[in-house]
Amino acid sequence: MAGHVLTLVPSGLSRSFPGGTVLWEALLDMGVQVRTPCGGRGTCGRCRVSVEGMPAEVLACRTVMDRDMRVLMGPTATQETPAILGIGPQSRLAAAIDIGTTTVKVSLVDVEKEQAFPAASFLNPQHRYGHDVISRIAAAAEPAVHARLGRLIRDAVRICLENSLAASGIPGHRLETAVFSGNTTMLFLLFGLDVAPLGRYPYSAPVRDFTGLEPGSAGLSGLVRGSIHALPVLSAFIGADLVGGLTLCDKAVGGKTVFFIDLGTNGELFCLDSRGRIFATSCAMGPALEGMTISWGMTADTGAITHIRQGTEGLAFDMLGAGEPAGITGTAVIDLLAILLDRGVILPGGAFSPATDLPSPLSQDHDDRSRALRLWGPIRFTQTDVRNVQLAKAATLAASRFLLDAAGCRPEEIEHVFIAGAFGEHLDLDRFRRLGFIPTLGNARFSFLGNTSLKAAEQACTDPDFLDSAAAIRDRSEEIVLSERQGFQEAFIQAIAFPPGD
Ligand code: FES
Repeated sequence: MAGHVLTLVPSGLSRSFPGGTVLWEALLDMGVQVRTPCGGRGTCGRCRVSVEGMPAEVLACRTVMDRDMRVLMGPTATQETPAILGIGPQSRLAAAIDIGTTTVKVSLVDVEKEQAFPAASFLNPQHRYGHDVISRIAAAAEPAVHARLGRLIRDAVRICLENSLAASGIPGHRLETAVFSGNTTMLFLLFGLDVAPLGRYPYSAPVRDFTGLEPGSAGLSGLVRGSIHALPVLSAFIGADLVGGLTLCDKAVGGKTVFFIDLGTNGELFCLDSRGRIFATSCAMGPALEGMTISWGMTADTGAITHIRQGTEGLAFDMLGAGEPAGITGTAVIDLLAILLDRGVILPGGAFSPATDLPSPLSQDHDDRSRALRLWGPIRFTQTDVRNVQLAKAATLAASRFLLDAAGCRPEEIEHVFIAGAFGEHLDLDRFRRLGFIPTLGNARFSFLGNTSLKAAEQACTDPDFLDSAAAIRDRSEEIVLSERQGFQEAFIQAIAFPPGD
């Protein structure tokens, strides 16, 4: 296919791309981070850019390069990188990076003050090659795609770090180290390792430790002076993200019976009992709770409805920023579902009820294939959206039950429940429990831990023993492989319905 030249105006920087390249990807290749909160589905309108000769702004996520293009660089779509207050040219800095299947989070860490500063959060640019690890592994069977997946994430992380350092007035080559976390597939793709063994029987991870690596192995030459690391992984499906959470929990509440769940596209769970035995498993939740398989879902960006409350006059929406809403986040989806279930608008099986007493401002609507509710302007919540949340819920509930069973733990024995994940931080716990994502654990104290994957990477930047502790805890852990357990499919199906209301 003939190539086309993309030129950035006014810098004049230009590069040639194969015809058909999506403009968003081409911009990313050229070091321009574009805001893509809806994952490139064309619903949020946040990726608009001006192209010379076009009468109106275009969506970078929906525009393909069918000719040479000159893009006017303005603040509309490009990620504005704020200066990080609290760090400066004298700071001794490291970087902590959590590579989620859907979302990537980056912190800069002041090594002397042992303080972490959030630097950026962006959609994993590998997203268009599939929502989950299995799709990415399948896509990577093509060598060119495997190389591209690695390059996409390395470039995105490098650009993000360069922008954060530059915005904070810190010259390049200033990072002492960088520590990565993420699931096993994400780390393998980052380091250019073959992901095929992760996706076929016996699903083994040929490499489980990633310490003392050259910065260039993650595309960070010129940015990091020392060596770089990633937290250890347990197996093909139990990644550094869970091992990181496990290490933090073991340090904090060793000796108690703990149930931990990390909510993400890949749900990861462990049970740590009072004798220090550790059982871990993972399940495919899909990215619904991160807003990605929801018709009008988006990440927490300007215009996102982040929470929905039941007010006296109907539903009240909390939104980020001013103006018209552009979509809903996973936290708002949980709120909405719980409200609709309690009002009987959605039945426990997940179907919309034919009897309709809709709270204001909701109204009946249809998408192409099924019933839907209109929330605001064009924003709709569809029957398919409900089903996608149900799949996530069934996965976590069935996996939780099997994990507790394998650990020989009765639900009432659990003393602490920790909910982790960037999403979990902002979740309404009562509504999450109302929807039945996990079993009833009546004697447990619930806490949100936030993004433990990122926190563990941050801690590894300052604590020289952290990576060794993580590897030791990993070696004590037993993996529960759900696909090898009899009856898991049946348990999954049984877990699809929502619990009936009180
Ligand atoms: S990312 Fe392009 S419209 Fe949302």
